Amino acid sequence: MTPSANFSQWIDQVPKWRGWLQLSPARAYMHDEEEYDHFHGNAAPDPSEGEGLCALLAKHAVDTTGPALEIGCGSGFLTFGLARHYPGPDLLITDPSATFLKLTQTHFSETDAFPARRHYAVLNADDVGRLPGGMFSLIAMRSTLHHILRYEEFIVECARSLRPAGALVMGAEPCESGYQLMGTVAKSIPAAFKAAGVDLKPAWAAKLDELTEAVKFYCLRDLEKFAAEDKHLFNPRELAELGRRVGLQLHFYPTAAFREFAPPFHRGFHGFGHFFLIYLEFCMGCEKEFVELVRVHLRELLSYVDDCYRSHPGPEITGVFVFTKGG
Ligand SMILES: C[S@@+](CC[C@H](N)C(=O)[O-])C[C@H]1O[C@@H](n2cnc3c(N)ncnc32)[C@H](O)[C@@H]1O
Repeated sequence: MTPSANFSQWIDQVPKWRGWLQLSPARAYMHDEEEYDHFHGNAAPDPSEGEGLCALLAKHAVDTTGPALEIGCGSGFLTFGLARHYPGPDLLITDPSATFLKLTQTHFSETDAFPARRHYAVLNADDVGRLPGGMFSLIAMRSTLHHILRYEEFIVECARSLRPAGALVMGAEPCESGYQLMGTVAKSIPAAFKAAGVDLKPAWAAKLDELTEAVKFYCLRDLEKFAAEDKHLFNPRELAELGRRVGLQLHFYPTAAFREFAPPFHRGFHGFGHFFLIYLEFCMGCEKEFVELVRVHLRELLSYVDDCYRSHPGPEITGVFVFTKGG
């Protein structure tokens, strides 16, 4: 039986809900799904993330003759290009949130003719153990692994569900060493302001506490994280070791994003200092005045980190993870 016929036979017996396949009970995202794109500054849909991911599949000689599975599609930021560029026969687009599935569906019309047929399912990654073994050529995710409670078990199950020569590909996941460095720099801001005679407003101090406590929470592994939306930071060497134990070989591209592997191949990461200031303004919602003071009074510290990485990508704040399964 062909990989596609095998896939069709499987999805035919999966229960349906609201017109989607149902592999898990639906669960809403912890923040307003309708506001997601606005909050993350995503403007018009852009195919380059999915196109870059598919270019990586070719670069790593991944066999794409079987179906692809996207986990945690959100509003479709990766899906938009993946649906256009995945060369295999089927693409199963999933999220635990019904609202996110609906938002992603709005990017496509029935008449779109892409190589892969699109299917939608409600799926919580904690349930990937229910997926058939040896089914998927690609399991793709963007900014989703850090939401999954038992991510180690998840990776083991992905290895089982991949076809030989398939790949688990993940982008925009936060790495421990880079985030820990951001937390440490944030901790040093009050003393730097004091030394410069700058008044640290209570609202600014509260934002710094929020950032440093969040980094500590994500770092720690002895806490119950069930109720939190964002949960983990990753160490690429630990993930490589975990992958190795289950037959997956990791290639890690530090500080890279999927879109960088598609034309016009622009690098998106412009150094730690730049990333830190953008993070304060857009991810933490800090006032511009505060961010400007950080830029001035932390200049030497931020430049020092950038100088350490002038010859190679780093520090590891995020990156692209390509796990390939032996053929
Ligand atoms: C930060 S958003 C990323 C969305 C999209 N992939 C993107 O790049 O914009 C995280 C996504 O993971 C999904 N998610 C959260 N927990 C999950 C879980 N346990 N299993 C699968 N997806 C999950 C959320 O519903 C959300 O769509």
